[in-house]
Amino acid sequence: MSGKWIRPLICPVCAQPLGDYGQVWHCPAGHSFDVAREGYVNLLRRHKKLPDTVGDAPEMLRARWEFLARGFYEPLSDVVNGVVATAVADHSAPVIVDVGCGEGYYLRRLAARLAGQPAALFGVDIAKTAVRLAAKGGGGHGRYLVADINEQLPFADHSVHVLLNLFAPRHPAEFARLVIPGGLLLIVIPAPDHLQSLRDRFALMGIQAQKEAHITAQFASLFAAQPAQMVIFPLQLDALALSWLIQMMPGVRHLTLPQQEAIVQTPTMETVARFVVLTMRREA
Ligand SMILES: C[S@@+](CC[C@H](N)C(=O)[O-])C[C@H]1O[C@@H](n2cnc3c(N)ncnc32)[C@H](O)[C@@H]1O
Ligand SMILES: [Zn+2]
Repeated sequence: MSGKWIRPLICPVCAQPLGDYGQVWHCPAGHSFDVAREGYVNLLRRHKKLPDTVGDAPEMLRARWEFLARGFYEPLSDVVNGVVATAVADHSAPVIVDVGCGEGYYLRRLAARLAGQPAALFGVDIAKTAVRLAAKGGGGHGRYLVADINEQLPFADHSVHVLLNLFAPRHPAEFARLVIPGGLLLIVIPAPDHLQSLRDRFALMGIQAQKEAHITAQFASLFAAQPAQMVIFPLQLDALALSWLIQMMPGVRHLTLPQQEAIVQTPTMETVARFVVLTMRREA
């Protein structure tokens, strides 16, 4: 078993080490999990029924895949990669986990940035379609898992050197369990005025104003916050990019007909992306 342990994965049922046996992973107690054709593994507890509304819908995932593939959010990904590369520079084999990884865009680019450094990369998401896309597009640089942030995630206590959480739900106690003392938690959220001109033009849903303060408070007793970093850059959107971007946004299912018409009649538009990158160190 020891030679095959996928450090630092644990069985979601009994928390013993999880071993890689080719087409199946299993723990010493015999709980087994099949490796899907695309290479990802579903580590949700058996028989767990999830409501359809959990995780992003396939149309939203595909829109994000197309939009990100055109490089619109590359400046953000570059900032994330810079922070992580600095944080793991002195580690011989860091464990990096992206929780709520979606289709794996950020982890894929991070893997390219860290190429040559023996890091263990994991992407976790509750949406099977997202994880499937991530595993297919990943080129074998990391392992992708279906798991639920609201349950115990399948990693040993204090085994993660860098935990990434981009635009995804958070679980402070579980993140604190996973991250090694001194390890890094990096959270990215949209700033309150992210895509403001686009939101104004099409009367789209706003962003929670106090999000940053809320997150800082949630994590204050578990992690030491470092100064937040703003990442701001312009976006020049053509009609297709605009439609993908809008489909990525929450609330898109409730657009009215006039809103939809205004969007399809817009051939090009400029707006500004604004993000907040929060970094925190796990208290020793
Ligand atoms: C807005 S997307 C961000 C995806 C990716 N980080 C990105 O920026 O491209 C939020 C992601 O969180 C995932 N998610 C939502 N609830 C989750 C849960 N309970 N456990 C794990 N992932 C979850 C969704 O399926 C979705 O892929
Ligand atoms: Zn087990």
